[in-house]
Amino acid sequence: MPDKIDQTIKVARNHHSAFISELSDFVSIPSVSTSPEYQEEMEKAAQKVAKMADWAGLENIRIFPTQGHPIVFGEWLHAENQPTILIYGHYDVQPVDPVDLWETPPFQPSIRDHYLFGRGASDMKGQIVAVLAALQSIRQTTGAFPVNVKLMVEGEEEIGSPHLRSFIEEHRSMLSCDVSLNPDAGMIAPDLPTLVYALRGLVFFELKVFGPEHDLHSGVFGGVVHNPAQALCEIIASMHDENGRVTIPGFYDHVRPLSSEEREELSRLPMGDDYYLKQTGAPQLWGEPDYTPVERVGARPTLEVNGLFSGFTGQGTKTVLPAYAMAKISCRIVADQEPDEIHYLLRRYLEQRIPSTVRWELNYFGGAPASLTDPKHPAAQAMKKALELVWETRPVLKREGGSIPVVGDIQKILGADSVLTGFGLPDDRIHSPNERLHLPTWFKGIEALIAFFYLMNTLQE
Ligand code: BES
Ligand code: MN
Repeated sequence: MPDKIDQTIKVARNHHSAFISELSDFVSIPSVSTSPEYQEEMEKAAQKVAKMADWAGLENIRIFPTQGHPIVFGEWLHAENQPTILIYGHYDVQPVDPVDLWETPPFQPSIRDHYLFGRGASDMKGQIVAVLAALQSIRQTTGAFPVNVKLMVEGEEEIGSPHLRSFIEEHRSMLSCDVSLNPDAGMIAPDLPTLVYALRGLVFFELKVFGPEHDLHSGVFGGVVHNPAQALCEIIASMHDENGRVTIPGFYDHVRPLSSEEREELSRLPMGDDYYLKQTGAPQLWGEPDYTPVERVGARPTLEVNGLFSGFTGQGTKTVLPAYAMAKISCRIVADQEPDEIHYLLRRYLEQRIPSTVRWELNYFGGAPASLTDPKHPAAQAMKKALELVWETRPVLKREGGSIPVVGDIQKILGADSVLTGFGLPDDRIHSPNERLHLPTWFKGIEALIAFFYLMNTLQE
């Protein structure tokens, strides 16, 4: 291992408790982007990021207000003739509900069995702290960074990054870079460092179905008006066939097919049916039979019901015919599908299929396209080498089913590819109760990031 990498890793190993304490402070701020009640906490989380950026050694640290939550920026640009890396992160987290299922409160980080528990520990406060800890260790060791770095940390990723694109457009030169480092993608197992080269996109909707003017007695009126809960379920049920294929006409028209070489490559990942059964605890797998689970998650679009509401859901019984029913629906999309195209197709389908016995409304919350990055990019190669140095095993290449809207925006607006990696594990329960971060893997991640920054130096002094 090159000397400086080795030296810096030793420095980092002496600071594990300081890193954990930074992470604990950060996780204890309830920065839930979707609820207006957490406005002040968003501000606090942004300030915490700014403080950690300073601790890491970045300069010109600024917090930019947006129409939504603030964006934190910092930079260090003294590595002449060296590449500039734009580090991306998001300080917002998903809601904590169902909160009763947490073993310890979501915003009181607690360590048990080598895991740090708390909302955002894995997705992705831990990943942000890992990068800043790596930078901090390098600065402590050499007093400078081997490459130029910029940092952009937003507070709206978990709600689709609605204000990030315009921010990037307005700050093109401030954000200009050779490549972006995005540690918001995870690894597939603790012993398998992972580079992600594809992400799915996302489109969100809300479908409301209205029937009678108000809730009715289901005995007095049942059988003469179409129950909105039933009408909603009927339309939702019609959107898939028995093979798990989406039936909306045109839905698959622009899906870019997988090449046989790529299918071959993906089939080598240790992620067969058993893996998905174990990760999910579902009684059986489901989905398009012509594709393997990895292909279905990485390269096929889906339509999911994220939430359903109608009528009486309290304890006991109530004989009601509800006036209203609602579903939250989203689609994961792949290259070359577009969010607006999916919106058009879904609306047309509803227009043709929902009967005139009910009225309906479709709200479109926008979305983000899928992204593909080049795994042969020199920065991806440097990350591969860095991961291999630390884990002493060959990293795997993977398509990811989740979405990170900024990757497409950075590609389009700044013309820079992203290196996607991260040190979260599939059983970290991200977005679920008892989210956690595996600390031994996280420490290794910090070491890999240290190696990455040195390996990005073109001279490799
Ligand atoms: N970090 C995740 C995406 C992810 C998860 C990547 C697992 C790789 C492995 C990210 O924060 C996330 O959850 N994104 C949302 C995006 C959306 C709300 C626009 C998602 O995918 O649901
Ligand atoms: Mn994330």
